[in-house]
Amino acid sequence: MSYFPTTRMRRLRRTPDVRRLVAETRLDVSDFIYPLFVCPGSGVREEISAMPGNYHLSVDEVVKEAVEVYELGVPAIILFGIPEYKDAEGSSGWQAQGPVQRAIKVIKKEVPDLVVMTDVCLCDYTDHGHCGLIQGQEILNDPSLENLAKIALSHAEAGADFVCPSDMMDGRVGAIRRKLDEHSFTNVGIMAYSVKYASAMYGPFREAAQSAPSFGDRRSYQMDPANVREAIRETEQDLAEGADIVMVKPALAYLDVVKLIKEEFPVPVAAYNISGEYSMVKAAAAKGWIDERAVALEMLLSMRRAGADMILTYWAKDVARWLKEEQR
Ligand code: PBG
Ligand code: ZN
Repeated sequence: MSYFPTTRMRRLRRTPDVRRLVAETRLDVSDFIYPLFVCPGSGVREEISAMPGNYHLSVDEVVKEAVEVYELGVPAIILFGIPEYKDAEGSSGWQAQGPVQRAIKVIKKEVPDLVVMTDVCLCDYTDHGHCGLIQGQEILNDPSLENLAKIALSHAEAGADFVCPSDMMDGRVGAIRRKLDEHSFTNVGIMAYSVKYASAMYGPFREAAQSAPSFGDRRSYQMDPANVREAIRETEQDLAEGADIVMVKPALAYLDVVKLIKEEFPVPVAAYNISGEYSMVKAAAAKGWIDERAVALEMLLSMRRAGADMILTYWAKDVARWLKEEQR
């Protein structure tokens, strides 16, 4: 190697086009998944206060959104449900006429090519807000699997392309894969929230999904932020049980984990740029303290650089527009 003054690093940073030429990583609209919150009723478009720019949308409104997302070039959405009612079993999660199930049907009719993913969990649908069934203060594992599988099946029956279990119960990917295959949905994929940490940054989302636990926390099922080797075991298990895509969540504070999972496993890796990561930027930008667009693009680029093949983000539509503006 030769050194300064023979080598001058700044030559490769001299003009925008030189920089573009040597860029190792870039953002592409093809790598984004846009989350949407579907609620009962019609004509509903209610902004989620902790997540500016995101809405509770009734089926008729969510369809409009899906069309817009697809026209912007974003290939996929992930649906979260706000049900009519909640009970101890989460039974509103698998009703054929539930908001998510109806939304999938209409979206698949109006925008058939848009990849429709669905979040599969119990917390949106249980009155106690936990991601599994409970007995007293305990979150039960095995009894939760059948209910999760029922939710996944109902999404597949409505036409979902991928179901995405986010509950962190052991064995749920296998239970869902078996249920789907028994009903001949062998082509419906599973994107597993394989490495999901018990993060304090889900706060804004819990307002959006109205899914905060009524007691305790999620630390007996979501991963401890202190651990990284455990992420390998979680991912191994989900892949052995039939996951097609694995996810690391949150993204920003866990880029080391994204990188590790990408290096260890030859499967597509998704990173979830979660609500707290989004809302912190929105809030600071609203105060004029930071530049939302520049910060968002830099954060998303860091996720790609760490190895994420795809990113779930509330900025997906904005990114599509920003990238178009940046094109020469
Ligand atoms: C529920 C679920 C959560 C998120 C996605 N699915 C929250 C939680 O586990 O409490 C978080 C998404 C976000 O914060 O953007 N299983
Ligand atoms: Zn949950």
